[in-house]
Amino acid sequence: MNNWSEGYFTESTYTYGYYRELSPNFMRWCLLLKGIAAPEITEDSCHCELGYGQGLSANIHAAATPGKFFGTDFNPAHAAQANEFLSASGADAKFFEDSFEDFSKREDLPQFDSIGFHGIWTWVSAENRRHMLEVARRHLKSGGMLYNSYNCLPGWAPNAPMRELLILHDKYQRAGNADERVAAAMKFVGNLIDAEPVYLNFVPDFKRRFEQIKNQNAHYIAHEYLNLDWDLMYFADVAELCQEFKLDFAMSAIPAETNEAMYLSEKAREFLKTVSNPIIREQLKDYFINRQFRKDIFVRGVRRLSRTETYDKIFSTRYVLTTPAASVPMKVKVHQGELNLNEERYRPVIEYLERDNFRPKDLLEYLSTSQINPNALIEVIVVMAHTGHVMPCQSENAVKQVKRACERLNAHICERANFSGDIAFLASPLTGCGVEFGRFQQIFLAQYKAGNKTADKLAEAAWKILSRNGERMIVEEKEKLASENGEISHPRKMLETPEENVAHLKILAENFLKRLPVFKALMLV
Ligand SMILES: C[S@@+](CC[C@H](N)C(=O)[O-])C[C@H]1O[C@@H](n2cnc3c(N)ncnc32)[C@H](O)[C@@H]1O
Repeated sequence: MNNWSEGYFTESTYTYGYYRELSPNFMRWCLLLKGIAAPEITEDSCHCELGYGQGLSANIHAAATPGKFFGTDFNPAHAAQANEFLSASGADAKFFEDSFEDFSKREDLPQFDSIGFHGIWTWVSAENRRHMLEVARRHLKSGGMLYNSYNCLPGWAPNAPMRELLILHDKYQRAGNADERVAAAMKFVGNLIDAEPVYLNFVPDFKRRFEQIKNQNAHYIAHEYLNLDWDLMYFADVAELCQEFKLDFAMSAIPAETNEAMYLSEKAREFLKTVSNPIIREQLKDYFINRQFRKDIFVRGVRRLSRTETYDKIFSTRYVLTTPAASVPMKVKVHQGELNLNEERYRPVIEYLERDNFRPKDLLEYLSTSQINPNALIEVIVVMAHTGHVMPCQSENAVKQVKRACERLNAHICERANFSGDIAFLASPLTGCGVEFGRFQQIFLAQYKAGNKTADKLAEAAWKILSRNGERMIVEEKEKLASENGEISHPRKMLETPEENVAHLKILAENFLKRLPVFKALMLV
């Protein structure tokens, strides 16, 4: 362990994840759904992300949001990566390599409109959690927003001993490099499960959970389970600590949770009617849905908007459909439940948003010309945003300001795709958020911009890149295999001949071309 790492796993770098909840635009829109005032986002706004990892979310948001961005992560390899993205985008940002403690003591930081941290809280010491909150106490504006996510109780309680086994092995029998340490600790737990400890009889989910973890990226496993610190907390304890730093709990950053009927049973809602304290109510919901991971938004001084102002702001926001209307499913998973959507209500809104080649639209005209009532329309937008099929957009003025930085960042990510598939997102100037966009789509996008406009040409161009690298396509075969524990796996095979590879790439290129109108609407093309 190095002397700067404070028990945090630093032997391997983190994955290139993207989290829309860290986007100031998305945070602001969530608060609006709940009728809570949030800062306007303008060229004078300032935002901050703590523990930005590889800096993908931080850079997407720095490029796609007007104003200035700041952030810190004490891992120098992470800071170097974040700053490489920043040089590519030319966004107005500063990414430091400070520890949370050093950052909290800086005298050269502005007042922030938003602060976000994702995947940090559980994995650092109590002292570091206070340093993070101290950044907010000193630098979050009155009315500013703060996003935090963490593993929570009671959902994690039965499986917490699994983490204990992993860290136990890593602490006392550690050998080899980061990947070998992960593999050895996983093998140790696997062998223990095979030896049938009686504990498993009482926690039947343990084995399933382990199988799930086994398939995850080794770097992710290391950062999730092999840090010396790993503190599970109840929501109420987090809220109480935040209160000490002048932060009020506002809401969960999961849009569908603005409507309890969407994810709580009737019995649960009846019971919750008997509980008036908002902190207890929120904590009880974690029992009702057996939640293991929370995504919370706090505000420095919650102020409520009137109902009419809330509605006006929600309906005058522009929205974009991110999936062709015909492909939007009418079943949606919300926590443990599945909603069957009312087609008569949902389809017309989705088709309206698809009109004029997915042009982003506010909902004022739709509301005044259709029979739908405001609450029903909000429900549609909330459910569609929950699944990501619809996203709220920034103002036209904001889009103009961020367009160039997004183009530059996206071009850099697409160029990287020639050699690596580690990033699966691009920045949308329209939404101010990232958009899922895999390696082959990135390669096709760069080639499309270079003038290869047909599926044949795109496939040939992509194959040239792959064959130059000595790479081959790996595809899932049609048949499915059922394993001993009943899980379905798809056997995968490598395509050997150039013809097979080009033919498969052509299928992917055809899909890419079909989705072009959406990509154009999101301003990725
Ligand atoms: C699990 S990663 C999450 C990264 C990123 N937020 C994401 O979700 O992709 C936690 C990050 O926090 C950083 N970190 C941990 N302790 C820190 C500290 N005391 N000061 C600064 N950064 C820290 C680590 O280097 C790591 O990049």
